[in-house]
Amino acid sequence: MIKIAPSLLAADFSRLGEEIKNVHENGAQYLHLDVMDGMFVPNISLGPNMIGSLRKVSDIVFDVHLMIMDPIRYIEAFAKNGADIITFHYEACDNHKEVIDKIHSFGIRAGMSVKPHTDAAVLKPFIPDLDLCLVMTVEPGFGGQKFMPEAMPNLEKLNGYIQESGRKIDLEVDGGINLENAAIVKEKGANVLVAGSAVFGAKDVAATVREFLK
Ligand code: DX5
Ligand code: ZN
Repeated sequence: MIKIAPSLLAADFSRLGEEIKNVHENGAQYLHLDVMDGMFVPNISLGPNMIGSLRKVSDIVFDVHLMIMDPIRYIEAFAKNGADIITFHYEACDNHKEVIDKIHSFGIRAGMSVKPHTDAAVLKPFIPDLDLCLVMTVEPGFGGQKFMPEAMPNLEKLNGYIQESGRKIDLEVDGGINLENAAIVKEKGANVLVAGSAVFGAKDVAATVREFLK
């Protein structure tokens, strides 16, 4: 069963509560929350306080994507503000196992991500500990970019590792996902599709969410 994770980055920031309610009511299972620090990526987005405020208006699964350096510093803040899943980048630290353990210590799910030009083989040793793997299909930092097919080998590799492990791990894709390429990434094993501009930029947001779920 495919899950859709609309990325709030592309929503109307003046009416976030309504935007979240709309996608949730139309079947979106996760809400993707992109956290950027202006260091790991050249952009700044939202922080723990904002996520804490949104937590009060929705019980949708909060899928927090940390694009920040040295993520261990902020795990507690995001966990305490309502994250259900915290995903961090392989490239952002060297204490990966420690970060995973810290996320789990709050009773929430841990994910790890690779940028398009990082070989996903680096995630293999962590598969026994992870709940989610995230394949970036654009360079992280901005919504509205073009899908990079060169990230497909990463998706195939991770799908292979997950199958081998026999564990139930979400395989998520993020960046430039739309109704055209959704079938391709699904075919290659993705079960969670992040979509920002394709959902919140659509004329009919509700209908687009439902279309993705088909
Ligand atoms: C990019 C973010 C994405 C972004 C996706 O750095 O990680 O989640 O919001 O936006 P679209 O779907 O517009 O590419
Ligand atoms: Zn993201």
